[in-house]
Amino acid sequence: MENRELVKEALAAREMAYVPYSHFAVGAALLTKEGKVYRGCNIENAAYGPTNCAERTAFFKAVSEGEREFAAIAVVGGPEGNPPVDYCYPCGVCRQVMAEFCSDDFVVVIGKTEEDYKVHSLSDILPHTFRDVDLHK
Ligand code: THU
Repeated sequence: MENRELVKEALAAREMAYVPYSHFAVGAALLTKEGKVYRGCNIENAAYGPTNCAERTAFFKAVSEGEREFAAIAVVGGPEGNPPVDYCYPCGVCRQVMAEFCSDDFVVVIGKTEEDYKVHSLSDILPHTFRDVDLHK
């Protein structure tokens, strides 16, 4: 799947964002190696702490359906009700969740529009990872 199509999926996912507190709407589209797309949005909570980011929503949906092999994710975000005004990079917690399931070459596409996006590898945005092997079990 083309990066622009994955950004389009993330923009569609963003429409579902539940953001009554921050009014900052984020969408994500997670592509499996087999070509299936899982969408996610951020889901906030009155207690704030239980809020789930769009990226983790997409990962947890996919993993809970048995997916383990991922190729790429697209992320878009910005103030609710308007198209994204800037690139919205994944928070540190979401980067760590990516590292749990993805290798360093996992592709992270950060979009504003279908035509305007940046492409990174996971190792670009999260160098020096802590993974399962680092537990030296
Ligand atoms: N948010 C995401 O969904 N993904 C990110 O990577 C950055 C932050 C959400 C969490 C919260 O609902 C809102 O954006 C403001 O922080």
